[in-house]
Amino acid sequence: MVYSKIIGTGAYVPARIVKNDELSKIVETNDEWITSRTGIKERRISSGEKTYQMAAKAAKEAIENAGIEKEEIDMIVVATITPDFFMPSTANLVQAELGLKDIPSFDIVAGCTGFVYGLQIADQFIKSKQSKTILVIGVEVLSKVTNWFDRNTCVLFGDGAGAVILKSSNQEGIICTYTGSQGDLQELLTLPAVPLKNPFLHIPNNNGRPSNISMNGKEIFQFATRIMIKSISQVLNKSNLSISDIDYIIPHQANIRIIDYVARKLKIEREKSIINLDRFGNTSSASIPLALNEAHKEKTFCPGDRIIMVAFGGGLTWGAALLNWTI
Ligand code: ACO
Repeated sequence: MVYSKIIGTGAYVPARIVKNDELSKIVETNDEWITSRTGIKERRISSGEKTYQMAAKAAKEAIENAGIEKEEIDMIVVATITPDFFMPSTANLVQAELGLKDIPSFDIVAGCTGFVYGLQIADQFIKSKQSKTILVIGVEVLSKVTNWFDRNTCVLFGDGAGAVILKSSNQEGIICTYTGSQGDLQELLTLPAVPLKNPFLHIPNNNGRPSNISMNGKEIFQFATRIMIKSISQVLNKSNLSISDIDYIIPHQANIRIIDYVARKLKIEREKSIINLDRFGNTSSASIPLALNEAHKEKTFCPGDRIIMVAFGGGLTWGAALLNWTI
């Protein structure tokens, strides 16, 4: 039986730190409100780093950490909602940056669940023996699509990139994955693309919607708690395990209150949740691989630990991956 397992991780975040107090100079907010409502204290903001550049830096670190030659990589999957171009994809740009040729590389869009979707796709390519070594990246420069005049959203987001190398193995790494989506809830969390505009259209005041994230925070909060519990339960059921068999949860880093609520409901001990949103905010597709990389580098995990990654995001989308740690 062929399985896939993570053999290396990497990350990159911009050096520029923006603390809550600095945001209170831009919008009417304060450190106390942001900290108590979200758990976020600071975030990293791009000083010019592009999405593909951050992705490539995270990738290089993951390749080094995995101890492989970059030429072993036979597919690149990038999850992002903030690419530099619609075309070429971020994955194509990363491929060029790494100096790799011929292999398939593509982006996927699944909001903040993007990394879990990417991992699921890569896992399937390996299990079907079409690939052996896949670079999976989650990367965002959310600062370029944040409405910096909207205090409801601008305090939440940050920029960053995280990457893993997934390799085929006879040892079971990824045990199972689960994803879902509900497009009719799209309006709760949106990031519009280019508005329709051409010389044959005569629509008065057709300026399109601004390319900023907008969100119904309360609805998303409720959705997030419900769907994260469902996603965790799905991967546990699929693998005949119970929550007490799980050593660590790596949740999408959106809000500490969402993470705490889910942990309370499922009776997960606090120390089992990997949390870094206090320092990076919500980095969408990058949040799980960033947290994973940090915990790995801090030697939090031991071989044999069972880990669940769980996310929700715009789409609306959701998903979870259950894996054995093997490094
Ligand atoms: N500073 C100060 N006051 C604020 C701020 C702010 N930054 N933002 C909102 N407020 C005000 C509101 O205007 C409101 O004032 P009012 O009562 O006078 O109208 C008050 O604070 C309470 O606002 P609520 O929206 O009720 O605050 P809530 O406790 O729901 O927290 C939050 C808001 C943090 C956005 C929460 O709803 C949340 O976390 N939702 C989920 C968001 C999320 O997970 N997003 C992730 C998906 S997006 C992605 O991952 C890409």
